[in-house]
Amino acid sequence: MTVLSTRLDTGGSAYTANRAAMLEKLAALDVEHAKALAGGGPKYVERHRSRGKLLARERIELLIDPDSAFLELSPLAAWGSDYPVGASLVTGIGTIEGTECVITANDPTVRGGSSNPWTLRKALRANEIALRNRLPLVNLVESGGADLPSQKEIFIPGGALFRDLTRLSAAGIPTVAVVFGNSTAGGAYVPGMSDHVIMVRERAKVFLGGPPLVKMATGEEADDESLGGAEMHARTSGLADHLAVDEPDALRLARRVVHRLHWRKSGPEPMPWYEPPKYEEDELLGIVPGELKAPFDPREVIARIADGSDFDEFKPLYGSSLATGWATVHGYPVGILANAQGVLFSQESQKAAQFIQLANQRDRPLLFLHNTTGYMVGRDYEQGGIIKHGAMMINAVSNSTVPHISVLMGASYGAGHYGMCGRAYDPRFLFAWPSAKSAVMGPQQLAGVLSIVARQSAAAKGQPYDEDADAAIRAMVEQQIEAESLPAFLSGRLYDDGVIDPRDTRTVLGICLSAIHSGPVEGARGYGVFRM
Ligand code: COA
Repeated sequence: MTVLSTRLDTGGSAYTANRAAMLEKLAALDVEHAKALAGGGPKYVERHRSRGKLLARERIELLIDPDSAFLELSPLAAWGSDYPVGASLVTGIGTIEGTECVITANDPTVRGGSSNPWTLRKALRANEIALRNRLPLVNLVESGGADLPSQKEIFIPGGALFRDLTRLSAAGIPTVAVVFGNSTAGGAYVPGMSDHVIMVRERAKVFLGGPPLVKMATGEEADDESLGGAEMHARTSGLADHLAVDEPDALRLARRVVHRLHWRKSGPEPMPWYEPPKYEEDELLGIVPGELKAPFDPREVIARIADGSDFDEFKPLYGSSLATGWATVHGYPVGILANAQGVLFSQESQKAAQFIQLANQRDRPLLFLHNTTGYMVGRDYEQGGIIKHGAMMINAVSNSTVPHISVLMGASYGAGHYGMCGRAYDPRFLFAWPSAKSAVMGPQQLAGVLSIVARQSAAAKGQPYDEDADAAIRAMVEQQIEAESLPAFLSGRLYDDGVIDPRDTRTVLGICLSAIHSGPVEGARGYGVFRM
């Protein structure tokens, strides 16, 4: 009864054009992702290998269960900044001895693995994911500490890294540090604050001050090993709990530590059986129009990510510009809110507020599928109370305590981004498709508004208006806003957890939902369900 049918014409010209546009965007993103994978480039990678060391992603591969997935997060961090793409840190969710963990690994081939402002934001986001989802945290450490030229941006906020480790521990969430190399100065507090510490013999260097600094400070002559070597910490200072003979041994020890946690997830189990969607995930490539001008039916997306394509729609006849309903994804029950026609009106806002409250009463996680140009403007809508109703939806999203996941499929503009649980509304995870665009409003609208304001200002001063300059400025502003709305730019600023291939959406959602259920899932209590 509630299984979705499809109207997608996979032989039609619209589908073919959409698919071609999406594949082109994916290819462009692949080029950017490759930059993160390349780390510090061949010279530094070769040097690292010649020292007999593993690369950051190789360490992760040996740490997680064989052939299991690793959901890398924010691989495009620092994109468009002065720092290398990836921000000299790899973060993600992987399974160790059957336990889902947040894993971070410094990339020592990028400026000695030192932390720049984007590294810090990426690391703090990883800590937040561990805390909110109750996931053990494993840090694979080898870093030159603060990126010294940018110290003013990171020294003061950077203290949160060490604070988070001990807060995780206080919340009963295990933290493990595996030290492969340098972890000096502030970095020494990563093992210092972790529940479990493993160090690699003759490689780990953990001291507050290295030999030159000690010489400067006190005149004492000391070498690396006696100041902060793994043997010293394992036998003398007691900072290391385990002494590893080499890198694979350290990763084996880390797996053993996680095994001994006997970690139990505290969220509800998924349904024991579920069906795959009835339609091909591959067809997700051909749904979103290249230019985002034409609307698309999000049910075509839901039909390709929900178990059995089953979507039990709530209020299908009311507020039709927003589809709301119940589904399961990889056996996890979810409520879905998906923009259907772009604009959010009063009815849609009220429907969303009611639906979000129902999900809270049922302890049901929510999935927001974005394609909105925002709340409707205009006299009739203002008089009809669009602010009030939009506020109601934003209120419901803000105070909802069930886990939220947002996927930006297309547009995510204006307060619509907020109502649909944008980044500032703390979704547990937020991913973008290559087709996504997010900004305060569309580039043309924004440039047009600026032009009207400038024209009015000139008129008020009695000055002539330069139409040629106006056209040039409009074009420039449009271009700038367009560039700032694109997924790579937003991902570079850590406004999402990654840009994903639409075909991977169901898999990514499955990994995230499973990770979320490592912690309890509890809705907000204390209010009844409003009937709109
Ligand atoms: N800030 C900025 N750049 C740094 C850096 C830091 N903390 N640490 C290393 N780099 C840069 C180096 O200048 C070098 O750049 P270059 O190749 O363009 O000359 C590059 O990263 C690689 O460093 P290098 O020293 O050649 O690598 P290494 O693997 O032999 O040694 C370290 C790595 C981290 C042990 C060493 O660079 C070091 O001791 N750095 C300073 C550590 C420190 O005291 N940090 C302060 C913490 S608060």
